[in-house]
Amino acid sequence: MKTLFKNIQSLLLVEEEPTRWVAGPDMRTLPHLNDAWLLVEGDKIDSFGGMDTAPNAADEVIDCTGKVVMPAWCDSHTHLVYAGSREGEFVDKINGLSYEEIAKRGGGILNSAQRLRDTPEDELYEQSARRMGEIITMGTGAVEIKSGYGLTTESELKMLRVARRLQKEFPLAVKTTFLGAHAFPAEYRENREAYVDLVVNEMVPAVAEEKLADYIDVFCDRGFFTPQQTECILAAGAEYGLAPKIHANELDFSGGIQAGVKYAARSVDHLECTGDAEIDALLSSETMSTLLPSTAFFLGMEYPPARKMIDAGLPVALASDYNPGSSPSGRMPFILSLACIKMKMLPEEAIQAATLNGAYAMGLEATHGSICPGKQANLIVTKNVNSYSFLPYAFGANWIESTYVNGARFYHDLD
Ligand code: NIG
Ligand code: FE
Repeated sequence: MKTLFKNIQSLLLVEEEPTRWVAGPDMRTLPHLNDAWLLVEGDKIDSFGGMDTAPNAADEVIDCTGKVVMPAWCDSHTHLVYAGSREGEFVDKINGLSYEEIAKRGGGILNSAQRLRDTPEDELYEQSARRMGEIITMGTGAVEIKSGYGLTTESELKMLRVARRLQKEFPLAVKTTFLGAHAFPAEYRENREAYVDLVVNEMVPAVAEEKLADYIDVFCDRGFFTPQQTECILAAGAEYGLAPKIHANELDFSGGIQAGVKYAARSVDHLECTGDAEIDALLSSETMSTLLPSTAFFLGMEYPPARKMIDAGLPVALASDYNPGSSPSGRMPFILSLACIKMKMLPEEAIQAATLNGAYAMGLEATHGSICPGKQANLIVTKNVNSYSFLPYAFGANWIESTYVNGARFYHDLD
């Protein structure tokens, strides 16, 4: 089956060979082709070019006059398997409590952990499947999903089984990450090392035994896991081939970035507290810096210094952090708007950060994240727009006409 998209106003992020990532000043240049065609064969991108060279035969021809066609989002950091919601804490925050104060009162992650333990696996799957349908409709074609609301071996396994089932049932690419070290359960508050032992000696081997995770994560930050505890958990993961993707430097200059770099993390994520020492460590690494601006937006915090990081030569990825506590939305177009409006990223930078660099942050850069012959045909087709800069500019608007995953248009009944 061949599908020809023709008369495309602007075809974004075209490349002939897959590149690893785009970094520093190169992020300002978005390779694109105006008045273009794109040929998809089966589930893969076949070829593209200017309309003067358009093929004249295909099984299906889609006219894209006035539309942008681009790679689907690669959302490399989510917690979208969770039970229920936490709008009560949202109101607490409006009334002046901080994220850390809510966590200390047994709210926050522990609140979600209690709900998750009380929710049967099938019900957890149903809730999460609705979120998957919703994010694909909003343009996501590859997603990473973390555990971390279980905090017991049994419940962590339950979350990861649900994530693996989503991977089977949905066409988009899914990577799973074990985040048993997301918070200390109340019963370990006075004996934190015992919980680290449980993660290292029981959870990691159990997760590896069932092959439930591709990556391992730790929330390395003030009040959560120390760099020493983080290193101990990452070392345990490494024994089972689990590469790190860690939460770092959201609440403080916690040493998390350096710990991640030391263990060759695929990505370090959040990074609100990033200074010169952290940037230097990242510059000498293969680790992607993943920024989650909707978390800073929702919690009313400082945004990560994206401009400084890119200007220093780093690659930056953007992700949604979709979770019930600090970012209850997986809407990637809004993430791009925040990146441009609040972090002064250019549209060219934001688009590449949310696609190609997000793919790298999940180890998917060979198959996802750009319009490249041989890659999966995961695409966004927009409604009529003036230019690609309109996309982050029109915040909150629904400018996506359709999402294609593996060459097929995705239809979802949002209930
Ligand atoms: O990425 N920072 C740690 N974890 C999540 C928040 C989880 C929650 O509050 O439920 C995050 O923001
Ligand atoms: Fe997160």
